[in-house]
Amino acid sequence: MSRAFVTRRIPDAGLDLLRQHCEVVLNQEDRPVTREELLRGVAQADGVLCLLTDRIDGEVMAAARAVKGFANFAVGFDNIDLPEATRRGLPVSNTPGVLTDATAEMAWTLLFAVARRIVESDAVMRSGRWPGWGPLQFLGGDVTGRTLGVVGTGRIGQAFALKSRGFEMPVLYADERPNETLERELGARRTDLETLLRNADFVSIHVPLAPATRHLVDARALRCMKPTAYLINTARGPVVDERALVEALKEGVIAGAGLDVYEDEPRMAPGLADLANVVLAPHTASATITSRDNMALKAARNLIAMMAGQPAPDCLNPQVYQT
Ligand code: DGY
Repeated sequence: MSRAFVTRRIPDAGLDLLRQHCEVVLNQEDRPVTREELLRGVAQADGVLCLLTDRIDGEVMAAARAVKGFANFAVGFDNIDLPEATRRGLPVSNTPGVLTDATAEMAWTLLFAVARRIVESDAVMRSGRWPGWGPLQFLGGDVTGRTLGVVGTGRIGQAFALKSRGFEMPVLYADERPNETLERELGARRTDLETLLRNADFVSIHVPLAPATRHLVDARALRCMKPTAYLINTARGPVVDERALVEALKEGVIAGAGLDVYEDEPRMAPGLADLANVVLAPHTASATITSRDNMALKAARNLIAMMAGQPAPDCLNPQVYQT
């Protein structure tokens, strides 16, 4: 019977399915595996179900002598050296499509929370220090009719933009490719990044992390934004220069930020947590019960196919099957 190494507990839906097809070796503790545990685990496995907190590089692949593939429990896969996996003929899969709405919803949650200062307001209510209604309390930013800037209009960026419909927002987007759905449905306009940054009242990041997108939003980009604008990031932390963002938030270069992801998780840039004009979530954009169940099922199905020597439904490097 083949053996799957699952680097951390995922929803039972996925584990139960895997157990119907193979022996499951599971990291019993609810924390990321250490490097040593990862190297030891992959060395004894036929397939690996890994997480975005596991760095799957050449060293891990070399240790994974019998492994027939890596199924990532995430749509993002910047934790895996995909070119190296392809060079070694190892299939890699992700979990597209099942966390699109959850992630888009989280971007909207952060957008409203930061614009309407919900976290600050909640803290005052809990503290018992609210003196009663006042005309100048917690003034925030408007959303309806303001310009939305969407950076990256793949599945999640597109879903996020489409959900703006009720708020009658002009939509600008920056992407390598035109997005006909957004242009048709919303009259969205494709621009270069700088034009988007200069004109949007809300800028939401939806690009994957890759060498070309690392620090895409740096100090210079932040200075292009309006002082009344807000930045939302539910993609990957390193797309934004977090230290530059802290400075921009402190100096009023932009009005605020809503973040679900960080450059060096679980750490945050010094000073970020002290700022009132930022709303911080712990990388939970896909954390709905349904999304996480479906991610677990998808990752399990991909791994079962890989271990059976069949093409994984969500294979990221299908060229490995062509040799
Ligand atoms: C992903 O899937 O890439 C998210 O960041 C975690 O669910």
